[in-house]
Amino acid sequence: MKLPTKVQLIDVGPRDGLQNEKQPVSAEVKIGLVHRLQEAGLTEIEVTSFVSPKWVPQMGDNAEVMHGIARKPGVRYSVLTPNMKGFEAAIAAPREEWPDEIVVFGAASEAFSQKNINCSIAESIERFAPVVAAAREKGIAVRGAMSCTVGCPYEGDIAPEAVGRLAGLMKGIGVQRVDVADTIGVGTPRKVQAAMEATLAHYDVEAVSGHFHDTYGQALVNTLAALELGVWNFQSSSAGLGGCPYAKGATGNVATEDVVYMLHGMGIATGIDLDRLIDAGVYISQALGREPNSRASKAIRTKRAG
Ligand code: HMG
Ligand code: MG
Repeated sequence: MKLPTKVQLIDVGPRDGLQNEKQPVSAEVKIGLVHRLQEAGLTEIEVTSFVSPKWVPQMGDNAEVMHGIARKPGVRYSVLTPNMKGFEAAIAAPREEWPDEIVVFGAASEAFSQKNINCSIAESIERFAPVVAAAREKGIAVRGAMSCTVGCPYEGDIAPEAVGRLAGLMKGIGVQRVDVADTIGVGTPRKVQAAMEATLAHYDVEAVSGHFHDTYGQALVNTLAALELGVWNFQSSSAGLGGCPYAKGATGNVATEDVVYMLHGMGIATGIDLDRLIDAGVYISQALGREPNSRASKAIRTKRAG
């Protein structure tokens, strides 16, 4: 089958990547990561989240990080906003510091919805609706993240019907595009395709993205499986950072470096400079005192050291 010829990547490292970090990471380092990602050619960056600092302390510096970014024209900066309180905080700053896109985040699993955002799926949609309306009224784009679309840490396998149901609810409140997330990285290609197909019943292909955690080492092959359906938007984290605090044992997102290496090797354009991306991953990994969690980064750095 004919695969897409270009892919749009959203680096979620500063948000998904760092939200789970136990050690303190300064706003300065987070801003430094965003700057390096945009210099590497990323045109979409998920910067932070406006959630309760009691639930996710690492994102407590959200406003400081948004304030500190030197914006590059053509780059879309997004943030998570689970409710009106989060949305109002995200736009409390002067307009030039507003996010270009906000993300409401729900789950295809009831149990995960409760653990992650403390409400049922139906209640979450009620909370998101005014956020979506307010954002769109202000000209801010809206994305919806859908967690646990293939498996849930509490409920096990998730049926594609549950994913389709959530996608339909997101569409119904005006969410413009959605992420099909394998939060705990248990998915395999056919299951991921089933979740994608359930979503594609509600959204056009350009409005659907893949968000794969790599816990079981399936994220690249799941990316390829999604490409086979024509999906060409994906989320990934530089240096493979990350994990969700409410999905214990789940590791980070697939490393952006690994995705870019695969795509470029297949002749699929990303607009990203892999060498500079690797340097961004090294920067954040050094700040965290560990090696980048990316095979492509390791291989290329070994070759560089020659
Ligand atoms: P709640 O306790 O139900 O909310 O939490 P509440 O409205 O009852 O408020 C309780 C307290 O939180 C109050 O403070 C509020 O002011 C405060 P208190 O009176 O106790 O001092 N509060 C807030 N503070 C700051 N910003 C806000 C906010 N809202 C309420 N926006 C809530 C509901 C959603 C806030 C909470 O459950 C929460 O913050 N959860 C965090 C969830 C999270 O960030 N998870 C990780 C991101 S999702 C993810 O990683 C998955 C994804 O990557 C895709 C995938 O891989 O699956 C996207
Ligand atoms: Mg995630």
